[in-house]
Amino acid sequence: MNATAEAQHSLGVVESFQEQFSTTFDTCYTWNYEPFKVSLRNLYEKAKHSQWDAQTALDWSIDVDPEAENLPDVSNPLFGTHLWKKLTPAEIRKFRREQLSWSLSQFLHGEQGALLASAQIVDAVPWIDGKYYAATQTMDEARHVEVYDKYLREKLDKEYPINPHLKTLIDQILTDSRWDMKYLGMQIMVEGLAMAAFGFMEKMSTEPLLKDLTQHVMRDEARHVAFGVLSLEGVYADLTERELQERLEFVYEGCRLMRDRLYAVEVWQEMGLPIDETYDIVAHSETMREFQKMLFAKVVPNVKRLGLLKPWLRDKFAELDILKFEALEASA
Ligand SMILES: [Fe+2]
Ligand SMILES: [Fe+2]
Repeated sequence: MNATAEAQHSLGVVESFQEQFSTTFDTCYTWNYEPFKVSLRNLYEKAKHSQWDAQTALDWSIDVDPEAENLPDVSNPLFGTHLWKKLTPAEIRKFRREQLSWSLSQFLHGEQGALLASAQIVDAVPWIDGKYYAATQTMDEARHVEVYDKYLREKLDKEYPINPHLKTLIDQILTDSRWDMKYLGMQIMVEGLAMAAFGFMEKMSTEPLLKDLTQHVMRDEARHVAFGVLSLEGVYADLTERELQERLEFVYEGCRLMRDRLYAVEVWQEMGLPIDETYDIVAHSETMREFQKMLFAKVVPNVKRLGLLKPWLRDKFAELDILKFEALEASA
C-alpha cells in the first residue's frame, strides 16, 4: 500500500466509527489573568495535586471473573421475579456479565461526553480560573474514558453502545450555544447523577479492581460537581423571566432523560427476555424506583443552591418524587 492509499484507508476506518455534528458557541479570550474567582483557583490547585496515572495507580493484574456476582444479584431489579426464577445458573452468570458491561459502557460513553463538554468549557468560559480548571477536568475525563475502556476491554470483553436517553442529553449539552448550559447539563446534572451511580457501584461492588477504579474516579468527579456549583453561583440572579424558565425546563428535561436512561433494554434483548413484560416489571420494581430517586440526591440540592428551585421546577420535582432531597447538602 503506498502512502496515499494508506491515508485513504485509515480515513475510511475513521469514518466507520466517528459521528460528526455541528456546534456553535462563542469562544472567549480573556485578557485578565488575575485570579477572578478565588474558589475556582483553589480548586485548580487541588486538581493539579490530585492527578493520577491510570496505568500505574490501579492493579490491572487482578483477575476478574466477569460472570461472578461482582454486584449483588439482589440489586438487579428483576431479582426474585418469575422471570428471574426461570433463569438457569448459566443464564444468571451471563446476565451478570451483560448487566455490568451495560452499566460500565454507559459510564464510558458518559465520560466521553464529559471530555468533550469540559474541552468546550475551556473555550467558552469567560474567566481565566474557569479555563484553568476546565483544562484539568479535560485531563481527568480522558483518564476516566481510558479506565472504563480498559476495564471493559480487558476484564469483561464486551461493550454496549450509548443509551439513547443519555445520548440525547449529551447532544443537547454539546450543541447548546450558551456556556452556562454546558455547566448546568454536564457538571450539575450528568456528573451529579454519575456521583450517585458511582457511589452505588463503589459500595456494592465486591470486585476489588472495580472498587478501586471507582474510588479513583469519584475523587475527581467530586471536584467536577463542585466546579459547576462554584462557577454558576450567582450567575442566575439577573436572568429575565424567559431566560430563567429556559434553564428550569432544561433541568427538568435532563432529569427525565436521566431517569429513563436506566432501563437496560439492550441487555434484556441479549438475554431473550420479553421486552414489554420486563419493562413493566422493572418500571414498577421497588429496587428501580429507589435507585432512580437515590440518583438525584446530589442534583436537587445543587439546583437549589444555584437558585433554580422555583415553584415551576418544585412541582416537576415533586412529580418525579425527588423534591424531598432539597434539604441535603450541596456540593461546593
Ligand atoms: Fe469523569
Ligand atoms: Fe467529570
